[in-house]
Amino acid sequence: MSTAVSAGAYLHHLQLQSAAPAALAAFYADTMDMTARPLDGGHWIAEGPLRRVLFAPGESKRLGYAAFACRDRDGLAAIRARAERGGVPLLPSPSPLFGTEAFAVADPDGNVIAFGLAPQDPVRSGLRGPLQHLTLASRDPDAIERFYTEQLGLLTSDTVRDADGRLMVCWMRTNHEHHTLACFRHSQQGVDHHSYEAGDWSVIKDWCDRMGDRRIPLMWGPGRHGPGNNLFVFVVDPDDNWIEISAELEVVYDRPAKQWPHEEHTVNLWGRGILRS
Ligand SMILES: [Fe+2]
Repeated sequence: MSTAVSAGAYLHHLQLQSAAPAALAAFYADTMDMTARPLDGGHWIAEGPLRRVLFAPGESKRLGYAAFACRDRDGLAAIRARAERGGVPLLPSPSPLFGTEAFAVADPDGNVIAFGLAPQDPVRSGLRGPLQHLTLASRDPDAIERFYTEQLGLLTSDTVRDADGRLMVCWMRTNHEHHTLACFRHSQQGVDHHSYEAGDWSVIKDWCDRMGDRRIPLMWGPGRHGPGNNLFVFVVDPDDNWIEISAELEVVYDRPAKQWPHEEHTVNLWGRGILRS
């Protein structure tokens, strides 16, 4: 079993940078059924049941950092040891939600990823949709896949390669979920989208009704991804960050990585696909 998978790491929170962090936090609170509150230094946090997004003053549409929580202390120690063995420089964790045992790494594109232990969440009511995965955009997805699998111990669940064999997309896992981190080949580096897992089709319908009440049109979907087999809809926030709401994501116990063709059908078995490059 690979290190990140045996550590049971899951995406716990994200920090997005924004030129208008208070307004963006208010959008997430209203749209994504969360509560927003200010933090120090012009930072904001929006929190809902099993989902949290932080907002920092900065350039809009940029990732501050992503934070993965490990199942327990042993899992965190294993990822730390794996990173040290791989010669990955360890950085202090930037997250106010993790304790002093947390650390961070920077991937080949400079994305900062923290690993830590999460305190028990208070019980919160609201629409179901835990924060579930982050998808990066990169000019060099091969380097991204190598870094996360070879140096941190993530496992690749699926890939897309074009007719020339170039890696176009990779989906990687840190637990039993098909992917918690993915990467699309893209002309721009940073975040492609982040996703919340509603679990069930009927809950996606409730999310769509919530968007409809707010006159927020679906940007893509409903559809079903080939890799991961998950149902999806996408909406866009005021900074043009793509938000996915997903359901029925594949559970992977142990299987070889599958390779998919670079075509629209791969990313949407039901219709129009957005291939990014
Ligand atoms: Fe996704």
